[in-house]
Amino acid sequence: MAKHLLSLLALAASATHQALAAPTPPSLTYLYSVNLTMPAGTELGQVPYGSRALLPISGGTFSGPKLIADTSTKPGKVGIGLDWGLTDSKGIFSPDAVYALHTDDDSTIMVTEKGHAPHVHILFETSSDKYAWMNGIVGYATGAPYEGGVALDVWQVS
Ligand SMILES: *[C@@H]1O[C@H](CO)[C@@H](O)[C@H](O)[C@H]1NC(C)=O
Repeated sequence: MAKHLLSLLALAASATHQALAAPTPPSLTYLYSVNLTMPAGTELGQVPYGSRALLPISGGTFSGPKLIADTSTKPGKVGIGLDWGLTDSKGIFSPDAVYALHTDDDSTIMVTEKGHAPHVHILFETSSDKYAWMNGIVGYATGAPYEGGVALDVWQVS
């Protein structure tokens, strides 16, 4: 019993020691930039959690070093999507969007993004073998309004 207690104490002490050393920060690898075309949507006004809007994503383009066909430099096309983001009482917009990326080599990647503008985290889903690596990663993006929509730069966090 006493021995058990001692090893618990030793464990707690080493955990405290580890907490004092700054952990290594993750690094970011650039994936792509995207322009989302977003026509006027539907404003729901004040709902219990803030001001809600349904903002369609009707298209757009994207390009990046890891998201093009080996033989092509044409940008990929953004497919259909929706951002049902919320603006809180302090005016902070929290995007909550899902849309498709159609690569130039005929793969489709679903993008799910959530965040607090301008910071967004992104997950991907695809049935493509070529882009299957995206199913297991976490993306980080910063976004800004651009003429007719929103432009985002996307990185892989690793
Ligand atoms: C986004 O739009 C800007 C301005 O028109 C353009 O310069 C840029 O190349 C576009 N980016 C992509 C990824 O389509």
